Amino acid sequence: MTLMRFCLLLPKLRTVKCTRLSTLRFSPNLTTGCLAFFSSAWLSTTTHQKEKRNIILMGPPGAGKTSVGQVVAYRLGMPIIDIDDDVLEKTWGVTVADKLSEVGGEQFIDVEGEAVCNFSASGSVISLTGSNPLHSGSMQHLKKGGLVVYLDVDTNDIIQRLSRMKVNRIVGQDAGISMREILLYRKQFYEKWFDLRVLCGSGDTVEEVADKVLHVLDRYQNSESETYISTRRKPLSENTSASNSKYFSDVVVEGLAPDGGLYVPKNGFPKLEPREWLRIASRSYPARALAILEKCIHPMDVSPSELRTMVHRAYGENFACDSIAPVKHLIHNQYVLELFHGPTASFKDLALQLMPQLFAHCLPRMCNYLILVATSGDTGSAVLSGFSRLNDCDRQRIGVLVFFPEDGVSEIQKLQMTGFREGNVRSVSVLSDFDFCQRTIKRMFADSSLTGHLAVEYATVLSTANSINWARLLPQVVYHSSAYLDLVRDGVVTFGDPVDVCIPTGNFGNAMSALYAKQMGIPIRKVICASNHNCVVADFINTGQYDLRGRKLVVSNSPAIDILKSSNLERFIYHTSDGDSNLVRDLFLSLEKDQFFKVSLDLLQRINQDVSAGWCSEEDCLAAIQGVYGSTGYLMDTHTAVAKVIADRLQDKTCPVVVCSTAHHGKFAPAVLKALQCQNIPSEPLEQLKQLGTVADKSQTHADLFECLRERRKHKHTVCQADFSVLAEEVETMIQDSFLKVY
Ligand SMILES: *Cc1c(COP(=O)(O)O)cnc(C)c1O
Ligand SMILES: *[C@@H]1O[C@H](CO)[C@@H](O)[C@H](O)[C@H]1NC(C)=O
Ligand SMILES: *[C@@H]1O[C@H](CO)[C@@H](O)[C@H](O)[C@H]1NC(C)=O
Ligand SMILES: *[C@@H]1O[C@H](CO)[C@@H](O)[C@H](O)[C@H]1NC(C)=O
Repeated sequence: MTLMRFCLLLPKLRTVKCTRLSTLRFSPNLTTGCLAFFSSAWLSTTTHQKEKRNIILMGPPGAGKTSVGQVVAYRLGMPIIDIDDDVLEKTWGVTVADKLSEVGGEQFIDVEGEAVCNFSASGSVISLTGSNPLHSGSMQHLKKGGLVVYLDVDTNDIIQRLSRMKVNRIVGQDAGISMREILLYRKQFYEKWFDLRVLCGSGDTVEEVADKVLHVLDRYQNSESETYISTRRKPLSENTSASNSKYFSDVVVEGLAPDGGLYVPKNGFPKLEPREWLRIASRSYPARALAILEKCIHPMDVSPSELRTMVHRAYGENFACDSIAPVKHLIHNQYVLELFHGPTASFKDLALQLMPQLFAHCLPRMCNYLILVATSGDTGSAVLSGFSRLNDCDRQRIGVLVFFPEDGVSEIQKLQMTGFREGNVRSVSVLSDFDFCQRTIKRMFADSSLTGHLAVEYATVLSTANSINWARLLPQVVYHSSAYLDLVRDGVVTFGDPVDVCIPTGNFGNAMSALYAKQMGIPIRKVICASNHNCVVADFINTGQYDLRGRKLVVSNSPAIDILKSSNLERFIYHTSDGDSNLVRDLFLSLEKDQFFKVSLDLLQRINQDVSAGWCSEEDCLAAIQGVYGSTGYLMDTHTAVAKVIADRLQDKTCPVVVCSTAHHGKFAPAVLKALQCQNIPSEPLEQLKQLGTVADKSQTHADLFECLRERRKHKHTVCQADFSVLAEEVETMIQDSFLKVY
């Protein structure tokens, strides 16, 4: 069987909904791959009917496993098994305490684990001991027959409960080790084994925790309820509704819906309770990200342990700042959320260090994927960096080729991209403008002789990684939530107090994710959108008219928000109109046809309940950079400055405002130097950065950006003629170099 046939089978396979895309594990041996697929689909439907799985409660001592287990078992009409009383003591014929003193702490874990390995049950609620998870053999054994639910209770709460229960020592706690240390040590094991997390708030009652357990179980079983729909969908006909369900994995792979709309969650966004938010306020950025994303991504699509690996890879050493997205006090009631500490110094890293991993996870294993990107800005380097950090296995089947206009990106952006020249990520400069690059990519997708050739010869499918992709939007919800939690943690607000958020806005992705954070329960009062003189979005928010007629882009100092079509706005209009997909379809079709649409006064009023907007002139932007630097020593980039100006103008100072800093000042060095009225601005990007380094204090330099410019300035890069066949050849060469060796 040829590889080609398999690639063509793809859309068909996707419509088989017994199991999710992500559960397909295609081995390189395609024949077995397909067999595996059908048998796993069959298995998942049959086990569904029998459903004799256990529900296994796990957590530290004092988490309430036994008492919560009893309530859960009662409600579900299932028997309860307590490992301590019903398994260990019965097996040993002595109490657990006696056994512990007999064999000693170190041996105990193994002895206990062996006893658990000998035990089996089905259809029961099982309360583990606090130390079971330290024994992997027994956990593997238990997981085969059930779902592990982790009662995630704050360590301080546990310590208080244990002291109330007069427990002063737990298994594995040797002399000289504190209770806190041992509890923190154990956490990694709980985090490793769970299938479903229950975030327990301080003061949750047994009944409340049991409710949460039932809720996560329900969510797990009703995976059908977490689907996505297009903002432009036609009214559902009964016949097609089930087979048309799109899961997380589908929407990540597809990006744009076939009807031209954007995918949104069918049943709205999940919510966290205030106590749950408070629980994660004391955690690190990756831990906050996990708790939030677990609620938004169904465990059948990405299991918590897979998600955990991805999140730690995405938000680790690759960020120059431990807190990933720190919030700093700027002046009065204004705070800056610094979103530029990633490897390419713009906020796009926050999405694009994670998105490629989600994407790789969701893509079926049988083909190679080459992602084509046209860029005139920050996207190129962020995509290249994100995909270059995939694991070895994924790098051999997923690549990125970026086309950028030779004279249409800044010198710094060019250097950032041209450093990627081999392996699975490459950039190519084109002697034309951005539109040509984008048009050429569209033409490649539509050219069936090219795509057919690539499929047959190289088993390779062309793909995109657009800003409208759900997997790019979702990671951004985390930093908006995290910013608010920082303000809570630092005592600036009490949870529940409102804040405003001010965002330099282009495609409305950043703003949309702030609105999703609000839906999740973060008390954001207003999202204030800031435009430069290319102010189509601000005009729309103020007038209800989206008017492109006669509008031309005018060059600005904040090019990342120079925008005509703001794609994610479609999601916002969809949600604000209570999911009126007919309206959305009409509006955006008329935008394509007539370059114009207008919403009703009623809808405009609703829009203005959530967002307001303004635009900032070039002079005001540069003056703000100088003004803020003069009064505080803080150096903003041009996009941040646009937001700062609009925050000054529109925000009423009755609550704090978080200004999103979407780029590091070094990334737009010439304009920033101009704002500071520096004389003799050097032409070399590296020299510009050095000059900025003498202005701002040391803590404000971006080491990765500096290093990248220093390293790459001597490299030559590929420059192509503006010709379809030349670029198509680049595509083929890249595929030959990076994928051919796989087969
Ligand atoms: C991409 C970008 C923006 C615009 O973000 P949207 O989500 O498209 O609104 C703003 N600032 C910078 C620096 C960017 O790179
Ligand atoms: C693929 O798997 C099948 C079934 O396990 C096996 O018979 C066959 O030899 C394998 N082919 C290759 C090329 O490994
Ligand atoms: C497990 O079961 C086997 C066979 O019944 C028995 O020989 C063994 O001692 C048991 N192990 C433990 C730890 O109870
Ligand atoms: C739905 O099914 C019915 C009966 O099978 C059929 O008559 C009808 O045309 C179908 N509708 C659509 C939209 O396919």
